[in-house]
Amino acid sequence: MSKVTVVGAGNVGATCANVLATQGIADEVVLIDIKEGLSEGKAMDIMQTANILHMSSVVKGVTNDYAMTEGSDMVVITSGIPRKPGMTREELIGVNAGIVKMVTENVLKHSPNAVILCVSNPMDTMTYLIHKISGLPKNRIIGMGGALDSARFKYFLSLALNAPANEIEGIVIGGHGDTTMIPLVRYAAHRGIPASELLPEEQLKKVAADTMVGGATLTKLLGTSAWMAPGAAAAQVVKAVIHNTGEMISCSALLEGEYGQKDICIGVPCILGKNGIERVVEFNLTDDERALFEASAAAVRKTNGALA
Ligand code: NAI
Ligand code: 2OP
Repeated sequence: MSKVTVVGAGNVGATCANVLATQGIADEVVLIDIKEGLSEGKAMDIMQTANILHMSSVVKGVTNDYAMTEGSDMVVITSGIPRKPGMTREELIGVNAGIVKMVTENVLKHSPNAVILCVSNPMDTMTYLIHKISGLPKNRIIGMGGALDSARFKYFLSLALNAPANEIEGIVIGGHGDTTMIPLVRYAAHRGIPASELLPEEQLKKVAADTMVGGATLTKLLGTSAWMAPGAAAAQVVKAVIHNTGEMISCSALLEGEYGQKDICIGVPCILGKNGIERVVEFNLTDDERALFEASAAAVRKTNGALA
């Protein structure tokens, strides 16, 4: 029996819970929010798809009562405010840091052995904050950003190549920010053929640029930040941990020397399994890629400096 708690029953949290249940990733999903009735309503709505979709997972909703989250194997934190058009993820820090701190303390009281997945923005800094306040081993705290950014990279590559996204390889590392993420164009491929052999350099540059502003583009169109791919990307990470798949996904991890960085959470390729981050994979970056990673780390550190 696997149990996953999703904190925040807003757009991303409810979508994540829906994917976890409809794909049978977790047997039991608990949605929790401070807004009276919201979690209960979203859980009931999802459960009313059970017969239609032949779903056997159970989703329960609760308002701010952490007793219901007891014994969760994994906790996904999506609580907080999302960005509005024109806002950066970094501008959310003040409000979201208070929420993430309180939520982390509450969930750990009831699920001391859970793996925590942080989604709330600015995600790399919130993941770092969870490390600082929880004292958990580093493998048990994961930040979700690279899974989403890599999915967006593969989407834009699929459009440029006129090929299905599931035939595309691509990974984005670095911070989860419009100017800090690094789509690794050199590693992009379609059915094993490097994208650099299939697309002109200018087009690849445009794919990378579109990926980097992928979140902002959607925020402008939707009036709030996106939730379908973010919720599904969070569920993808949960699946890798709960099902112990050993999959490599770009996640924000606490680095202790990998990629030349220490005391920072930032997106790197991670092997995920039942213990959370089983291993950080060190790619052999070129000098240019390493310089981009260092600049990205400097920007994330600057945001971390805003933590009270
Ligand atoms: P939303 O506003 O739809 O949902 C947030 C929910 O959190 C609300 O229902 C709110 O009532 C709840 N909440 C606030 N304080 C809480 C508390 N103390 N305890 C429990 N629940 C609480 O926002 P949305 O779109 O779901 O985004 C959630 C967060 O995820 C934002 O910070 C957003 O920036 C971030 N995000 C991160 C992504 C990533 O790739 N890391 C992608 C998309 C969004
Ligand atoms: C996104 O990338 C805003 O982090 C959010 O859609």
